[in-house]
Amino acid sequence: MRKGILTIAAVGLLTTGGLTACGDDSGDKAASAKTPKIGVILPDSKSSARWETADRRFLEEAFKAAGVQYDIQNAQNDKTAFQTIADQMITSGVTALMIVNLDSGTGKAVLDKAKSQGVATIDYDRLTLGGSAQYYVSFDNETVGKLQGEGLSKCLTEKGAKNPVVAYLNGSPTDNNATLFKAGYDSVLKPKFDSKEYVKGPEDAVPAWDNAQAATIFEQQLTTANGKIDGVLAANDGLGNAAISILKKNKLNGKVPVTGQDASTEGLQNILAGDQCMTVYKAVREEAKAASDLAIALAKGEKKDTGQTVKDGDRDVPSVLLTPKAIYRESVKDVIADGYVTKEEVCTAAYTKFCAEAGIS
Ligand code: BGC
Repeated sequence: MRKGILTIAAVGLLTTGGLTACGDDSGDKAASAKTPKIGVILPDSKSSARWETADRRFLEEAFKAAGVQYDIQNAQNDKTAFQTIADQMITSGVTALMIVNLDSGTGKAVLDKAKSQGVATIDYDRLTLGGSAQYYVSFDNETVGKLQGEGLSKCLTEKGAKNPVVAYLNGSPTDNNATLFKAGYDSVLKPKFDSKEYVKGPEDAVPAWDNAQAATIFEQQLTTANGKIDGVLAANDGLGNAAISILKKNKLNGKVPVTGQDASTEGLQNILAGDQCMTVYKAVREEAKAASDLAIALAKGEKKDTGQTVKDGDRDVPSVLLTPKAIYRESVKDVIADGYVTKEEVCTAAYTKFCAEAGIS
């Protein structure tokens, strides 16, 4: 199964044209002489476990395998710290800077400054709107949202829900990915609201994807809806877990399907326990490897053709967009087989029974 998921991701890469070197067409001899040193700024460690448990790990793995110097730091959701870290990295002589922006404004300021100092730039996972990154490496984020919408709909059907009220817990309003996720799940759910098959319940965006705030917001949603919420489209596992904690308080967990994203340990455990309907697995190892390959090429003054672009206003940003995968109870084992989380992490005492039921041995 490990091969299975990796193949899907690899195909995603191939169909986007792969990464083919097209030589040093920049004519920048100085750049080609540079020894790669890559700076990475991660956004925080609370909005999702992925940044510290997956991205840091797989980026380190890719940089070490390529034998390049690197510096990975986390801005802990502090925009001032984000800019300070960028300044320090530029001063310390990084040849390429990869950022996961906290919002497009500060992201753009950092990218523009790096560019003006001759530092190569990559938007990692989140596109900086109006920015100047030379590449964008992420997943097909509209498809992530589509899988969430389809997943919620599948779970509602399985529960035999009639005209279910669906609440939305959207991601951060300053994250372009959150906009793309919503476009994806709206493409599946809006036609159902329009045809009155489903009823649109409360909808809120969660500032900075703050999981604690999400619980407060969802509790309010449940009150507003007089306790009648039949399905929750939560944009990631952290927001999903926040909704589940409130559903538990009201003895509604397991009855109301909740979605997620990131295949976090907590999310997978919630799925095994029957409290979460599905998650979306994004093979971060592939994302880290693609970004690392591009950063190293840029440092050497090479340009790679990704075979795909994404529009940011009038600008076509060369992009690598990998393929996400929906995970349900029966496929939790695939995420473990892919080495993203371990059986020991997921199958702790309270979950051994569920793990056995789901064929995790
Ligand atoms: C990422 C998600 C993550 C969220 C919160 C998004 O930009 O694509 O994987 O859950 O940010 O950190």
